[in-house]
Amino acid sequence: MTDRWDSSLYDDRHSFVWKAAGGLLELLDPKPGERILDVGCGTGHLTAQIAEKGAEVTGMDASVSMIAQARQNFPKLKFALADARSFVVDDEYDAVFSNAALHWVREAEDAVKCMAAALKPGGRFVMEMGGQGNIARIRAGAEEVLRAAGYKGEHTWYFPSIAEYTALLEKHGFMVTMAQNFPRWTKLEHPERGMREWLEMFGGAYFDDVPAVARGEMNKQIEERLRPALWCDGQWHADYRRLRVVAEKR
Ligand code: BEZ
Repeated sequence: MTDRWDSSLYDDRHSFVWKAAGGLLELLDPKPGERILDVGCGTGHLTAQIAEKGAEVTGMDASVSMIAQARQNFPKLKFALADARSFVVDDEYDAVFSNAALHWVREAEDAVKCMAAALKPGGRFVMEMGGQGNIARIRAGAEEVLRAAGYKGEHTWYFPSIAEYTALLEKHGFMVTMAQNFPRWTKLEHPERGMREWLEMFGGAYFDDVPAVARGEMNKQIEERLRPALWCDGQWHADYRRLRVVAEKR
């Protein structure tokens, strides 16, 4: 798989991804000594917050760049390069945690199977990802502009409904104890370049069939298409919707 991630840009301009996840850590409620796996740990900021509670945490990510940055950010913590769709663990965990990662994994069932296998019976799964309706305006705007210019305008994100994702969890031995889909209107970090930087960081697949010389113009047109809906109070915003789930391995 291509590693699209620029981990220093991610830390520099997109820290809202992990800063917004405070409530999720409270749901995880890590305890001293617990073995916890952080799936899709990115640059490791939430892994470190879990470690601060005294848990024995491992951060896992499929991106070489993210894992390198996580190791540089937090040299005392344990990080592993592995794919959510195919990983195997030596020793079972008390909890699997994941924030803003699983919407990159279209093979959701493979990931659910691996996460179930990684947990002890009674182990907890606490996760947040983009849910049904996530970035609906950004997607509609980008796709309209790209398709009008003759490009595919396709992305591969996975934003499931509560029903779809919880059914998958139940099929693979989880009991779901909480599931929510809620809006999180999110201010992007740079006032002028916020949307462009978001598209460059996260929307790479949209531009796969766009020649490099045309990308700037496409970005500009997408920005203008999105401005009436997503620019307000001098800032760009993303129309996130989160899917939050807590489950227990039976
Ligand atoms: C999200 O966190 O929902 C998200 C981030 C980047 C691209 C798509 C979705």
